[in-house]
Amino acid sequence: MCGIVGFAGKEPAAKFLLEGLSKLEYRGYDSAGIATLSEGGFTVKKSTERIESLKADTADGAKLNGNIGIGHTRWATHGAPSIPNAHPHLSADGNFAVVHNGIIENYSEIKAELESEGFKFVSQTDTEVIPMLLQKYYKGDLMQAVRAVAARLEGSYALGILCADYPETIVATRKFSPLIIGIGEGCNIIASDVTAIVSHTKNVIFPEDGEIAFITADKAELFDANGNAIEKEISAIGWDVAAAEKGGYDHFMMKEIKEQPRAIAQTVESRIKGREIVFEDLKLDTEKLKSFNRIQIIACGSAYHAGIVGKYVFEELLRIPTEVDIASEYRYRNPITDDKTLVIIISQSGETADTLAALKEARELGAHTLAIVNVVGSSIAKAADDIIYTWAGPEIAVATTKGYTTQLAVIYMFAVWAARKLGSAPVERIEAMFDGLLKLPEATEKALLCEDTVKEAAKDLTDTESMFFIGRNIDYAVALEASLKLKEISYIHSEAYAAGELKHGTISLIEEDRTVVALCSYQRLLDKMLSNVKEVSARGGHIVACTTEGNTNVESNAQRVIYIPETDPLLTASVEIIPFQLYSYYVALYKGCDIDKPRNLAKSVTVE
Ligand code: AGP
Repeated sequence: MCGIVGFAGKEPAAKFLLEGLSKLEYRGYDSAGIATLSEGGFTVKKSTERIESLKADTADGAKLNGNIGIGHTRWATHGAPSIPNAHPHLSADGNFAVVHNGIIENYSEIKAELESEGFKFVSQTDTEVIPMLLQKYYKGDLMQAVRAVAARLEGSYALGILCADYPETIVATRKFSPLIIGIGEGCNIIASDVTAIVSHTKNVIFPEDGEIAFITADKAELFDANGNAIEKEISAIGWDVAAAEKGGYDHFMMKEIKEQPRAIAQTVESRIKGREIVFEDLKLDTEKLKSFNRIQIIACGSAYHAGIVGKYVFEELLRIPTEVDIASEYRYRNPITDDKTLVIIISQSGETADTLAALKEARELGAHTLAIVNVVGSSIAKAADDIIYTWAGPEIAVATTKGYTTQLAVIYMFAVWAARKLGSAPVERIEAMFDGLLKLPEATEKALLCEDTVKEAAKDLTDTESMFFIGRNIDYAVALEASLKLKEISYIHSEAYAAGELKHGTISLIEEDRTVVALCSYQRLLDKMLSNVKEVSARGGHIVACTTEGNTNVESNAQRVIYIPETDPLLTASVEIIPFQLYSYYVALYKGCDIDKPRNLAKSVTVE
């Protein structure tokens, strides 16, 4: 996720900006830059390496003049990590410099309009339209220009703007992206989160969406979207620096769990125009889609589990036979893949060695490859024929949470998009799925309300050495992911089974007090699941059940029941995992495990 800082003071700005960017490094970034403003105009420095290299290039900022400036850490979305794509971006006439956090959804049409008027762009970013629009609308009145630009932008943004004609002022505004103003002594600051502010001041103003701030060394003036002056309360931050990096949470994992409603909304909403789903730059078209007789999904770990959900989704909505492969297995067998195969590669990091090798193998065999990836410019993103980014923002905890649910969001969206083109399912079914998808962020928010129940249930597990997750259909796919989540961070041995398979062997392991998590949200097979639950109960198993609101009949069969909101059956996979991310987190917390960095694991497995 991008980070922004801005400084207006009575001493050189560059040193502060570089320090502020270092504090934002934890958010993840692939390039960074700063711009300062002095009598000589803007000085801009950018790097695709670490902030340390920017510090080294500028003698810790000493080489840059100006008591006012803006800085940015970029997490690429539009355009690969590169110097031209790094922020700050300048207007063509050099009168404006802009840093931006968020996504401008209508940038393509604005860019086309500006290009037709003669504006020359130097980057592939969505952001660059903003300084160009400022140039277009600026007639000597900065407030009027900022308001005119804000009225043109669709999507999300937090902006830091400098104008050479206003050498003492930073303008800041936001919509759906975080922005904070720090009120210091002899300086005022803007930042996308308190981390970059807290070592200078604990006094902050939180602007609302649409509000505009004009900030100098001595004052921070706030205006509403119509340009009328408004009074804002100054709040005191209670966090220390370490807590601030994690947004006030003790662990990145919890922060990322709680970010999911927003992350899913960003993944979905940025592709929706009216009722259309628009994937920019996708080479796949209806004719190509019709040529496929098989889908192969290839991935590792949680991404593989997202692929298993994908099998249920694609086979129901597209009626195309779908296989799911573990990448390290696919690459070393003799797979049946050809030019009639759509190979879908799923990877949060985009750098997983086995997944990348499997992608290359599939391409050599003639398949069309579509990558579902979070990290822009990653090796898998570069190697695939088509890419759909998950846009989850950087994921720092080793155990994936928002990475996985945003992969599911892309799978759902892709299935609806392709089913509409192929006419492969009844229209009502496809449109019901689309409507459910729009409500997925809200359902995810509701699922998070189970935290107190889950926290209690987790206490039962601290002495457990081995347990099971069972489910059928979509519930089985969730069982696989829930089981992995638990074992990787709490070190409890856990297995996931298709509930119908229990009787074929595993039920011999059920004994007095053995914990079995029964996922019972897939309504169509609820009765069959309840029969399996009874079989386990009869052998003394301790049942923790998860089901959708209203299914109170589950209570008579379980020691604990966790309720989640009802959604489209296929979308349940995304909602039902939420309680078990929390469950794993609390079990690991009670056991004193290193939650964000579990033993023996790496975030990105770049070796075989
Ligand atoms: C899940 O919590 C794990 N960290 C792991 O299984 C992960 O999903 C797997 O290594 C694949 O990573 P990728 O999505 O970056 O390719």
